[in-house]
Amino acid sequence: IDELLAEGVAGKRVFVRADLNVPLDGTAITDDGRIRAVVPTVAKLAEAGARVVVASHLGRPKGAPDPAFSLAPAAARLGELLGAEVAFATDTVGESARATVAALGDGRVAVIENLRFNAGETSKDDAERGAFADQLAQLADAYVGDGFGAVHRKHASVFDLPARLPHYAGFLIATEVGVLKKLTTDVKRPYAVVLGGAKVSDKLGVIDHLLEKADRILIGGGMAYTFLKAQGHDVGSSLLQEDQVPAVQEYLKRAAERGVEFVLPVDVLVAEKFPDLTTKAPAHPDTVAADAIPAGRMGLDIGPESSTLYASKLADAATVFWNGPMGVFEHPDYADGTRAVAQALVDSPAFSVVGGGDSAAAVRILGFDENAFGHISTGGGASLEYLEGKTLPGLAALED
Ligand code: 3PG
Repeated sequence: IDELLAEGVAGKRVFVRADLNVPLDGTAITDDGRIRAVVPTVAKLAEAGARVVVASHLGRPKGAPDPAFSLAPAAARLGELLGAEVAFATDTVGESARATVAALGDGRVAVIENLRFNAGETSKDDAERGAFADQLAQLADAYVGDGFGAVHRKHASVFDLPARLPHYAGFLIATEVGVLKKLTTDVKRPYAVVLGGAKVSDKLGVIDHLLEKADRILIGGGMAYTFLKAQGHDVGSSLLQEDQVPAVQEYLKRAAERGVEFVLPVDVLVAEKFPDLTTKAPAHPDTVAADAIPAGRMGLDIGPESSTLYASKLADAATVFWNGPMGVFEHPDYADGTRAVAQALVDSPAFSVVGGGDSAAAVRILGFDENAFGHISTGGGASLEYLEGKTLPGLAALED
């Protein structure tokens, strides 16, 4: 982007592919971290006189307009953060988008509607994606990729559009890549990784890779129960990916051979059912040993002894990467495990990277100061795939 700014952008239409995929409660944004993260790029371009066209996906609509996934709330929040009026186009490449962009003055910003309202955005068919990218290209003179959270997607606005316009990386992508590169090249040891979230199947690639890199891997969240099962314990009605048990057993074996320490919960909070996240009615969970989860009970957070254990495993780490909450942190009865990990990172002198939409949101929703962490990534799947060493389409497209 520095190169683009040096060339001069006054009067130029600059397309900024952001990731404004923020969690919503109706039309209320519950965590605006991803919007704040793109403000430096948008503000700098506007300040330099560009006509900034911001685009993003939100959620997973089915390739057609769906009001539940409108970007209008995100556009309004972007305007508040910029302290400037932000125009909003009610379509992506139609009449509204064309007219909105044509009416933009120098230094002004517009947001176009959710890119995934057009089937071409996510199509597996190169021609269909290309056709949509051709239409998007009509809206701009230059492309700035700054939606780090979406760079692992081979989508029209991420992968095909940059090939059609002079393209640059924005400030956010540059920062994210700089930090994650450190974790893959010259990581300071001990290197501890905390993995949580619901599904172990989403994390297999990264675990495979981390077995070669990390010194300790701490497991929490829904995926912990597949690990406990792999160790031969009953997990009651907890979330379990039975088909992943052999893969997990293989990882545990490889870890033991390589001297990588796997840390699993020693106690968990259990209840008969998943809590009500709307009313947040008290759930009255019990604490039980992780190897004695009763039949008919599900684990919903790591327990207090596990929290103490995990904090001790993070206290002397030099580098920590954390992806995924330890429990159903959206409910106050199941937030303590996630809070304990966040607090341990705040207290530890380690360079800590929090990656993943959910864990990054959890840190903010639980009231932690973002500046207390080394880096809070805006990428969930993107940061995991980066750490796996995969080629990310949205980065490859910017790399010439
Ligand atoms: C994310 O939330 O990880 C990104 O915005 C990508 O969203 P997606 O998983 O729906 O492609």
